[in-house]
Amino acid sequence: MRRGLLTAQVDELARIALTAARAAAAYIRAARPAGRVAAAQTKSSPTDPVTLIDQAAEKLIRESIGAERPHDGFLGEEGGGTAGSSGVVWVVDPIDGTVNFMYGIGAYAVSIGAEIDGTVEAGCIVNAVTGEEYTAVRGAGAFARTGDGAPARLAAQSPPSLSHALVGTGFNYVVDIRLHQARAVTALLAHVRDIRRNGSAALDLCAVAEGRLDAYVEQGLKPWDLAAGGLIARESGVRLAGLGADPDERLTIAAPEPIAEEFFRLVRTCGF
Ligand code: IPD
Ligand code: CA
Repeated sequence: MRRGLLTAQVDELARIALTAARAAAAYIRAARPAGRVAAAQTKSSPTDPVTLIDQAAEKLIRESIGAERPHDGFLGEEGGGTAGSSGVVWVVDPIDGTVNFMYGIGAYAVSIGAEIDGTVEAGCIVNAVTGEEYTAVRGAGAFARTGDGAPARLAAQSPPSLSHALVGTGFNYVVDIRLHQARAVTALLAHVRDIRRNGSAALDLCAVAEGRLDAYVEQGLKPWDLAAGGLIARESGVRLAGLGADPDERLTIAAPEPIAEEFFRLVRTCGF
C-alpha cells in the first residue's frame, strides 16, 4: 500500500500527463494536413520515419510538463533524454503509430508515462483520431474514456481457449529483426484465431486491456512504446513478460492472467 503523500503525488503526475496528452492530441489533429504527411527524416532504418508534427508534438509535451515539473527528467522518442533531480522521469512517445499518421490510417496516439525511481506509476494514452483516453495509476486500476463519457474501468477478457485468441503484433523497422518476427508469427498463426498488425504498440496494449485483442507479442519495443501501455495493460488484469519476468526491447508479451502462462509458453515455442 502506498503512503498518502505518494498517492497524492502520483495522482498529480497523472493529471499533468493527461493534460499534456490531450493538448498534444488536439495539436496533432489540427496540424495534420489532408492526404499523406511526408517524413522529415528517418531513424533506425530508411523505413522508420519521423515527421515535423511528431517533433512539434513532443516539444509541446515537454514544455507543458516542464512548466509544472521543472526538476523532472524527460525521455522522448524524438528529442532524447534530459536528466532531472526529482526522481520522476517522463517517458513520452508524441505519436505512436507514425506510419499510420503519415498515411491517414486512424490508429495513432500520444503516450505519456511517469516513472518514479524507474517504476511507471502513472500513464495515459490518447488516440489522436478518436479522442479515446486510456489512463492508469499503479495499484488503482486502468480506465478508458470516450467523448464526454465518464471513465470506465478496464478489465481484460480471456478467450475461451488460446486457439480463439486474436493476437496483436508488430514488425520492427530493422530488416533482420522483422524477418525473425515474420518467421515466429508464421509459426504462431497455426495456434491462434488470427493476427492483427494495427501499427501502434501503445494502442495494442490498450486493446488487450479493453478486450479488443486477446493478447500481444512484439520484439524491439522502446521504453516510450511500452511505458504507459504496459501500466494500463497490467492495471486491467493483463500479465506482461519478456524473455524473463519483465518486458523489454528484446521481447514484450502480454495476455490476460488466465491465459498468460499458456500464451507465453506458445510464443517462446514459436521462436520469438
Ligand atoms: C512503432 C509502433 C509500431 C511498432 C513499432 C514502433 P512509432 O512506433 O508502435 O506498432 O510495431 O515497433 O516503433 O515509430 O510509430 O512511434
Ligand atoms: Ca513515435
